[in-house]
Amino acid sequence: MNATIEKEVVIKTESDIVVARRAVREGASALGFGLTDTTRIVTAASELARNIIKYAVEGTMVLHPLEDGTRTGIELTFVDHGPGIPDIAKAMKEGFSTSGGFGMGLPGAKRLMDEMDAQSAVGQGTTVTVRKWRRQ
Ligand SMILES: Nc1ncnc2c1ncn2[C@@H]1O[C@H](COP(=O)(O)OP(=O)(O)OP(=O)(O)O)[C@@H](O)[C@H]1O
Ligand SMILES: [Mg+2]
Repeated sequence: MNATIEKEVVIKTESDIVVARRAVREGASALGFGLTDTTRIVTAASELARNIIKYAVEGTMVLHPLEDGTRTGIELTFVDHGPGIPDIAKAMKEGFSTSGGFGMGLPGAKRLMDEMDAQSAVGQGTTVTVRKWRRQ
């Protein structure tokens, strides 16, 4: 079900962020998310895609519809093979940045979504998965 919404976007340039944002917006609306939640999901995706460009140079975003029998949701997975994050718990804290940024990307994305899993290995890369469920 909803297999047509499944999508993979290479994240390498600013224009890829535009493509990713559009794919997420279209996917979320097709799954029945309202405008406010769709905007939240697009904003979270933007931050995670931007981190890939900033820290890992390139990676991918995979958009995946979720259906667990009673609920419909959306899952976005951001994968890169960049430098990795030595301490994820620290990186998730508001204000932590190794680039002089605001340190709001990861905590902001977590707040905007319902679930976030981040896995990273130094020298190997980072995978961040976020999910949001549709309000009934
Ligand atoms: N894909 C990634 N690869 C390697 N390090 C990452 C990645 N994403 C985040 N980080 C690390 O986690 C830190 C926190 O990320 P976060 O997005 O919260 O803040 P920021 O990018 O520094 O600033 P902001 O997003 O507010 O402009 C980053 O400074 C960076 O050290
Ligand atoms: Mg960031």
